[in-house]
Amino acid sequence: IKVIVVNGPNLGRLGVRQPDVYGRQDLAELRRLCTAWGAELGLDVEVRQTDDEAEIIGWMHQAVDEKTPVVMNPAAFTHYSYGLADAAHMIGDAGLPLMEVHISNPSARDEFRKRSVISPVATGTITGLGFYGYKLALEAIAHLLAA
Ligand code: DQA
Repeated sequence: IKVIVVNGPNLGRLGVRQPDVYGRQDLAELRRLCTAWGAELGLDVEVRQTDDEAEIIGWMHQAVDEKTPVVMNPAAFTHYSYGLADAAHMIGDAGLPLMEVHISNPSARDEFRKRSVISPVATGTITGLGFYGYKLALEAIAHLLAA
């Protein structure tokens, strides 16, 4: 089963962007880890990243059409993109799991990070555990698909 792991704006800068918050590992390392974790779970994981709201919305439409479960770190779009929230809503409407992941714990940070417009339409949300959160999200998807 194919699963996409979608990362939003500025996550292409992992490793150099605020390493105290997001760690020293880069996107290539996240890609390597998610692919390996997925393989252990029998999932064919594809890791994507974009800074473009239109592109990430298009990926949601494609996931609906292809019936692909989604792990998503919407990054800053989390806090204000109703366009992405509407697209994410369609993932749930299609009966597909959508796991929201944040590397940091946004609730413990700036005021504007305390609200997620994605959480209400996500199957579940994992925050504050670094890259390990993606592993838990993939395990949750494997669990949900087996149920
Ligand atoms: C983030 C948290 C967001 O507030 C922020 O805009 C990001 C990354 C995280 O993974 O902790 O870019 O989603």
